[in-house]
Amino acid sequence: MSENFEPRILAFCCKYCAYAAADLAGSMRLSYPGNIKIIQIPCTGRVDALHLMKAMEEGADGVYVAGCLEGECHFLTGNILAKKRVNHIKEILSSIGIEPERVEMFNLSSAMGPRFAEIALEMTDRIKKLGPSPIRLRLEEKFKEAC
Ligand code: FES
Repeated sequence: MSENFEPRILAFCCKYCAYAAADLAGSMRLSYPGNIKIIQIPCTGRVDALHLMKAMEEGADGVYVAGCLEGECHFLTGNILAKKRVNHIKEILSSIGIEPERVEMFNLSSAMGPRFAEIALEMTDRIKKLGPSPIRLRLEEKFKEAC
């Protein structure tokens, strides 16, 4: 694995909790890796398994979904559905030989700015240890062949 490997990580963040926690982390001047690209969503229940697969297919090395604490979802069960979908994607990745740890679900509240920064660090460290996604490597190979 390259020493210079910088993981590409996509985070689907619920606007009521994780996205607000990211804002709070910013206001508290907590630093977290710039590898994380945040997508604001109205509730994690809107994240479809296809969104997660598409992110990996487009070259993300890791993807996570960050939603409200269990029992706190504004749409009641959105975060429970998201957890099931994340677990389903983990099974699919595992069945095709890709590390399931590349996909994760987290729960936090809008007051958990430090936890948001911690999650970002945790995912970056985890993906750095795993190395580039095999899908990303394949995409890069194809690109080189085409040039
Ligand atoms: Fe935040 Fe549903 S509203 S996960």
